[in-house]
Amino acid sequence: MADNFIWLRGEIVRQSQAFVNVLSPAAQFGLNVFEGIRCYWNAEEGVLYAFRLQDHLHRLLQSSRIVSFESPYSVAEIERSFRHAIEANDFLCDTAVRLTLFGDGEGSWSSCEPISMFIAPMPRARTDLRKIPKFAACVSSWERINDNVLPPRAKVGANYINGRFAHLQARRDGYDLPIFLGADRKVAEGAGACLFMVRSGELITPPTTSSVLDSITRDTVIRMARDIGIEVRERTIDRTELYLADEIFLCGSAAEISPIVSVDRFEVGRGEPGPLTVDMLHRYLAVASGVDGRYPDWRTAVNRSKAGSRSQNEPEVCGR
Ligand SMILES: Cc1ncc(COP(=O)(O)O)c(C=O)c1O
Repeated sequence: MADNFIWLRGEIVRQSQAFVNVLSPAAQFGLNVFEGIRCYWNAEEGVLYAFRLQDHLHRLLQSSRIVSFESPYSVAEIERSFRHAIEANDFLCDTAVRLTLFGDGEGSWSSCEPISMFIAPMPRARTDLRKIPKFAACVSSWERINDNVLPPRAKVGANYINGRFAHLQARRDGYDLPIFLGADRKVAEGAGACLFMVRSGELITPPTTSSVLDSITRDTVIRMARDIGIEVRERTIDRTELYLADEIFLCGSAAEISPIVSVDRFEVGRGEPGPLTVDMLHRYLAVASGVDGRYPDWRTAVNRSKAGSRSQNEPEVCGR
């Protein structure tokens, strides 16, 4: 296990020394709100960019509000701590960061304090464009949680047990991943990623009221697609539309753009990642890493090579 540095309760500690009380609401009931944030290494510039950091921090505080957590930190303070955590590790490589506000101390599922925070960066490479993955999906018999049960809009640790049931069932049944239907029996999302389908040249995704997380990658895809003249519609999707789609992909900070090549064993298109999906994946990574300089507000420089810009062939530095 890489013993990376973690920011925990205002201090930088090794992961092996980052402790939480076993009787805390976080440990017992999954009482936490979190963000998974990706940072992309730009070798040409020698800069590590966090992707849509401000949007993630904004959503973190929205999740806190829904679960009645009073965040002890402002957005500016969290951003400072985020930089501190990255600098402590001095990662000069693609990085995933788990940023979590959690129910600390000893308490129950209804405890509202104390709330603590950790920020844990770890190296994580982006999707390899020479080996784009292909996923076989099934429509899960597990239903997506909804706004009156466990609101999917809040990124709460406990919500992910819903994803666990669906994911493990999908794997047992020989699929790579599940697609959830909501209580309305319409398509919601994957277990940890939002869904897009392409039909007749149009990009279609369920609305944010369809039991989905208000995904930042979903918003990124919508904006990039519209900017290149692709029609995007936010509307409910029936299960059998998935069987007729020309292309389907999941998207998320972790998933990036993940092509689905079959649903319930129905081939999607030709059973290969479709052209729009592959194009979107290329565009997404180029924008997120700053190789494509458009959308500058989406990138925050969080670390720099001391040696200045580096050649593409130089190895990345993933920790010390
Ligand atoms: C349940 C769920 N849906 C969708 C997403 C995608 O959200 P984002 O694009 O903001 O990472 C995630 C990932 O964090 C998720 O956990």
